[in-house]
Amino acid sequence: MVKPAGIEWDDHYTATASHVVDRALVSTDVFWNLLGDVRGKSALDLGCGQGDLAVLLARAGARVTAVDRSAGAIDAARRQAAFNGVPGVRFVRADACALGALGRFDLVTGRYILHHIEPFGDFVSLLRRALTPGGRAVFIENSARNPLLMLARRSLVGRFGLPRRSDGTERPLGEDKIALLRREFKRVEVVVPELVLFRLVARYFFPRNIYWAGLFNRLDRMCWRHFPAIHKYGYLQALALFT
Ligand SMILES: C[S@@+](CC[C@H](N)C(=O)[O-])C[C@H]1O[C@@H](n2cnc3c(N)ncnc32)[C@H](O)[C@@H]1O
Repeated sequence: MVKPAGIEWDDHYTATASHVVDRALVSTDVFWNLLGDVRGKSALDLGCGQGDLAVLLARAGARVTAVDRSAGAIDAARRQAAFNGVPGVRFVRADACALGALGRFDLVTGRYILHHIEPFGDFVSLLRRALTPGGRAVFIENSARNPLLMLARRSLVGRFGLPRRSDGTERPLGEDKIALLRREFKRVEVVVPELVLFRLVARYFFPRNIYWAGLFNRLDRMCWRHFPAIHKYGYLQALALFT
């Protein structure tokens, strides 16, 4: 889910919401293994966007609350659940920092939300308190661990005809924020589910060329198999937080 520059989330969802559930990245075994059995559990999907993950969680048997601060996102998520025949999801328009008012949950999930939330330190303690004892939170996030990617983000994107695909306030999730999570939670697991690295070159430099996209995807898969030392420099990470 990438929001083109200059478009507010509300307009983005009005313009682009699709009824095809986007399984990318949350279909990985890594995400669902970190989450464990969701059947019968209460789950909060934070920053739900158009509701793809909320739909998948509800289908897997969780009792889902889907939250986003964008009214457009909540409308799109409601439509998504209805279109996919998933009743019973509770939709709430709220900021993640108002988490305390939403109740307590066995599971909290999110895809590309943590790096939007500020003040992060305050949010982290709210998040721990929103989990029931033994509960866990699992997030799919971007990563600030690759200095070359961060340099490219600072000095290339938005210039030389390269699109800026962020809203200017968000910052990929780095060790500083992960340290705050480690301070608050009993255990934090950080897992790289797959290598998302060279395909970013194709996405920025050849956005409409499926030949380059295919080639760079294959390069990511090859490096994933043969060079484990570079796994941590990928742009994608999953985090599991245990109370
Ligand atoms: C990158 S999108 C991801 C959407 C969805 N999770 C997905 O993967 O398709 C980020 C979403 O987080 C929402 N968001 C950003 N900051 C938020 C905050 N502080 N509280 C609640 N939602 C927020 C935005 O409105 C947007 O829908």
